[in-house]
Formats: sequence, structure tokens, C-alpha cells
Amino acid sequence: MSKQMSHLDNIPSTPGKFKMDKSPYIHNRLRWHSSLVKLTFWSFIFLGLILIFFFRSPSSNPLPQDPSRRSLRTYNWGGPSWEKRVRSSARVRSRNGISVLVTGAAGFVGTHVSAALKRRGDGVLGLDNFNDYYDPSLKRARQALLERTGVFIVEGDINDSALLRKLFEVVAFTHVMHLAAQAGVRDILKGKSIPIFEAANHGTVARDFTYIDDIVKGCLGALDTAEKSTGSGGKKKGPAQLRVYNLGNTSPVPVSDLVSILERLLKVNAKRNIMKLPRNGDVQFTHANISLAQRELGYKPTTDLQTGLKKFVRWYLSYYSGGKKAAG
Ligand SMILES: NC(=O)c1ccc[n+]([C@@H]2O[C@H](COP(=O)([O-])OP(=O)(O)OC[C@H]3O[C@@H](n4cnc5c(N)ncnc54)[C@H](O)[C@@H]3O)[C@@H](O)[C@H]2O)c1
Ligand SMILES: *[C@@H]1O[C@H](CO)[C@@H](O)[C@H](O)[C@H]1NC(C)=O
Ligand SMILES: *[C@@H]1O[C@H](CO)[C@@H](O)[C@H](O)[C@H]1NC(C)=O
Repeated sequence: MSKQMSHLDNIPSTPGKFKMDKSPYIHNRLRWHSSLVKLTFWSFIFLGLILIFFFRSPSSNPLPQDPSRRSLRTYNWGGPSWEKRVRSSARVRSRNGISVLVTGAAGFVGTHVSAALKRRGDGVLGLDNFNDYYDPSLKRARQALLERTGVFIVEGDINDSALLRKLFEVVAFTHVMHLAAQAGVRDILKGKSIPIFEAANHGTVARDFTYIDDIVKGCLGALDTAEKSTGSGGKKKGPAQLRVYNLGNTSPVPVSDLVSILERLLKVNAKRNIMKLPRNGDVQFTHANISLAQRELGYKPTTDLQTGLKKFVRWYLSYYSGGKKAAG
């Protein structure tokens, strides 16, 4: 994907049957003995059940003493109400709908893709670890927004195999839209100076920008053209198809032009900090090679930078001035 504007006993229940003696004394003794046996027995059963529950609990979160899992943060997942939310979110509501697990659903692209799928009547379940690579409050706002449309984001790591196994046990997903990543985001309004790189001899540095709606179309196109790997009842027929697409634009725009358009739309002057492009780092021009997506998905970006930025700025201002409500 190319640069954007903003860059989940049976227990033997026969507790000692005693033949009762007619003698009252023996009778009482036996009764007493019998109830002690019963009490001890049931105490053991009770303890046993607690232990069974403990080890077989669905929220079998990574145990801290497991060294292979130490790198993962522990998340609360599992349990009947959690499973209910998972099922409900992933339920397909349209006739030929699909059931999709969207990783990185609290992210920029993931949120838009999840909302678009839900709108079509597809089943959607999000998975995100809400990492603090950038402001997590923005991710939380997107989570709240998706929640209102009926999309549940499971809080967990895509590297947690126990969680992934559980999710596929609970839901027979037809597709996985993998968008979890650590991508970079930067935007001018904070009054901070923004570095603008220039190539040798004051050459312009151009990048390719794609509006989110075009990216969403490409993502949905990838899902809709995917081969089936399961038969009726979700029974596995073979390995699932894995496809990776590069979605972007093919008309790179000088970064300084982007900043100028933003200045006009935001009615502020950006503090430009012109810097030499590092020799061994970034390249002067980049644009995505979208020929595969064009050929296989019919992908064609239609929103130009000016229009896209206008929409973006409208959203940005409403989000950051309107009490962070319109996270969409
Ligand atoms: N938006 C852009 O400018 C841009 C640019 C280039 C590429 N892309 C690509 O688009 C895709 C999505 O980008 P985005 O802009 O939505 O990024 P984003 O950072 O907004 O979203 C990614 C989400 O993935 C989540 N995540 C990261 N690691 C995870 C893990 N181990 N387990 C669970 N969740 C995890 C993050 O919390 C985040 O919410 C990525 O493949 C990215 O490389 C985006
Ligand atoms: C992912 O899990 C594997 C195996 O459990 C582990 O080796 C690897 O270090 C983990 N990676 C991350 C990024 O947590
Ligand atoms: C663009 O991608 C297509 C399809 O993946 C590939 O065949 C072609 O070589 C790529 N072009 C360039 C310039 O890398």
C-alpha cells in the first residue's frame, strides 16, 4: 500500500451408600459418619471443579510463566459473554454475505474497511492490540464508532496463536483482511515545524497519495475476488488463498504541493523546515505499482489529491474540535 494522507466428568455421583442399622446409637454414628464422608467427598468435587474450570477456562490467557509468550501483553479475552459478542459481530446479515476477520481494525484503513463491510451486510470481527505507536485515543474513538455500527474489536495480538485458534473455533470466518501494521502518520495544526525534504539541487520530492475511499474499494475488491477454500458448512477444502496487493496511486505529487494545499484548506502557514534528502534513505520519487490490483481487482483510484484533502481536512477539524466524536 502506498502513502496515505494520514499516514483479537463426569463425576461418579455415588457418595458412599450406607445400609442403616436399626440401633439408634449406631444409626446416629453411621449418619454422622455418612455425612462426614459426604462432606469430604463434595469438598473434593468442589475443589476439583474449580481446578477443572481454572485449566479449561476459555480465557486461557497466556500464563506469565510461559517464556515464549512473555513478549505479548496479556489481554482479557474469552468467556461466554465475550464469545457472544464475537458471534454477533461476525454474523452475516445479507444473503451472499461473507464473514471477515479484520486485523488492525482500530487503524485508519481497518476502521473504514470494517464499516464498509458492515454496511453491505457482511459479518465483521475486528482484532487490534491498540498499541501506542501513535495516539491510542484515536483508535479508541474508532472502536466506539464501530461499536455503534455493530462491529466488535477484540483486543489482542495477531501473534497470539491461542487467541486466533479460539476466534476460528467460535466463528467460521470466510475471509481474513489483514491490515494490522505499524505505519507512520505525521498532519501542521500543532504549529510544529514539519520537515520537507528536497533532493540534491533543490529537486522536488514527490510522493503518491491515495484517498481512503479508493483504498477501501481496493480492499473490498480483494475480498470479493478471493477463491473459496471451504465447502458447505465451512468445511476446509484446501489451504486458503493468500494474496497481497499494492494499493495506491500512480501520479506522485510533490510533497511541497501537498503542504500548500493543506495550508490553503486549513488557513494556516506551515512552518516548513527544508532539509536535504538523506543519500542512503528515502528516494526522490515513489509511486505504487498498482498493475496487479488493476488487473485482478479492477482497482482504479478516482479521488484526486485536492478533493481528497478537502474531505480529509473537514473530517480532521470536526474530529479535533468537536470533542473527538467523528472518528470516521
Ligand atoms: N495509512 C498510510 O499512510 C499507509 C501508508 C503505507 C502503508 N499503509 C498500509 O496500510 C495498512 C494499514 O495501515 P493504517 O494506515 O490503517 O495503519 P494504522 O497504524 O492506522 O493501523 C494499523 C493497526 O494495526 C494495529 N496493530 C499493529 N500491530 C498489531 C498486532 N501485532 N496485533 C494486533 N493489532 C496490531 C494497530 O494498533 C493499528 O490500530 C498497513 O498494511 C500499512 O502498512 C498505510
Ligand atoms: C510471535 O510468536 C512467536 C512464537 O510464539 C515468537 O517466536 C515471536 O517472537 C513472537 N513475535 C512477536 C513480535 O511477539
Ligand atoms: C509491477 O507489478 C507487476 C505485477 O506484479 C509486475 O509484473 C511488474 O514487473 C511490476 N513493474 C515494475 C516496474 O516493477
